[in-house]
Amino acid sequence: MIPFTSRPTTSISGEISVPGDKSASHRALLLSALAVGRSRVRGLLEGDDVLATAGALRALGAEIVREADHWRIDGVGIGGLEEPENVLDLGNSGTGARLLMGLLASHPLTAVVTGDASLRSRPMARISTPLDQMGGRFFSRAGGRLPMTVIGAEAVMGIDYTTPVASAQVKSAVLLAGLNAPGTTIVREASATRDHTEHMLRHFGADVEIEASADGGRVIRLHGQPELTPADVQVPGDISSAAFPLVAALIAGEGEVVVRDVGLNPLRTGLLDTLVEMGADIEITNARTRQFEPVGDLVARAGSLQGVTVPAARVPSMIDEYPILAVAAAFAKGTTVMRGARELRVKESDRIAAMARGLSALGVAVEEVEDGLIVTGAGGRPPPVRLNAPIATDHDHRIAMSFLVFGIGARAPIEIDDCRMIDTSFPGFAAMMNGLGCDMAEADRGGAAV
Ligand code: S3P
Repeated sequence: MIPFTSRPTTSISGEISVPGDKSASHRALLLSALAVGRSRVRGLLEGDDVLATAGALRALGAEIVREADHWRIDGVGIGGLEEPENVLDLGNSGTGARLLMGLLASHPLTAVVTGDASLRSRPMARISTPLDQMGGRFFSRAGGRLPMTVIGAEAVMGIDYTTPVASAQVKSAVLLAGLNAPGTTIVREASATRDHTEHMLRHFGADVEIEASADGGRVIRLHGQPELTPADVQVPGDISSAAFPLVAALIAGEGEVVVRDVGLNPLRTGLLDTLVEMGADIEITNARTRQFEPVGDLVARAGSLQGVTVPAARVPSMIDEYPILAVAAAFAKGTTVMRGARELRVKESDRIAAMARGLSALGVAVEEVEDGLIVTGAGGRPPPVRLNAPIATDHDHRIAMSFLVFGIGARAPIEIDDCRMIDTSFPGFAAMMNGLGCDMAEADRGGAAV
């Protein structure tokens, strides 16, 4: 455990670029590995999660090498993955493990997938259920937990699958398996989830149709067994990482932060809509489309925030941003209601419980409900409290970064119990924040941090 302290800051400002989008980075590696020939990926997130996916794909036969300014991937083609010699360890990465299952289930091989304690506690039946219908076989621990053995199908069958939860990971695992099935694989989702897989599949030459319904649902049809053509991919900055410096700017008191080249896929920007509704001064500049995704620069200026009720329909477009939104809500005037987000209980940690516990230790009025949080903010810096112990992050990167951002706007330093998991999605987080004027550092155990 490496405890970390974040000290109050009254002004932060500067221009930064955050690391590459995690979702796009996993998908760029997976599709490059399935293309025949050489792909190049620029802006890849070099966080532990993505590096774990790269390691697994190497074990399946793809060549993946970091060059000076890009990653080079020599793919083996759909159907060309080899049986791995050892267990595939995806570390903390739910996306890596679940999307990879789609590849494993659709190749005639046997593989064992595991991960760290957090990943081994997360539900995998949501993936194995449809992939079993496609011909894969799965043997897991009780409750569908990892480690899991996958025996891939000799002959993959396309399916017509309606996802039971709004999950881009489930959708993507089915579509990736469908690449090696004859005929059409169909995924129906009641609420649209991030569509990076669909767009990137097209970028690599697959035939994908997306039909949007009036009620926000989608039907995605993939025509199987294409030959994927190698491609160059430019990964945009991760809006889920940009969220931390943006909220920091809003609560610091003074200053302006610019985050350059952030991916602005409309199925990912729910946090921006919510913050603007709260009265945040956030502007998008330099908006453009790069390759197949919208990108832009985000400018956030300090100001006051008002509590809002976040519509449940917005949940999929900001699912990873609830922890940092809960921090923004603690500084807002009035009550912010965040409901319809039960999925937060099965992320890298139970994020509803972790945020409720940490905010309440910090003296914030927070109510934990089954499917979310209700936070009543102080309308500015919350009164100082004396913590008896560092804030528990439950080894969750986004919980850690959220409470470090809280410390910027607090009246006394905040200590968190462990910062190591931040490297899964945002390597260099503290250095980048300190470059903006924050004061985050490994905790001085003898100091007055708590
Ligand atoms: C992701 C989808 C989301 C998200 C995760 C990344 C993806 O998970 O929380 O961080 O890259 O597809 P679910 O699909 O479980 O909602």
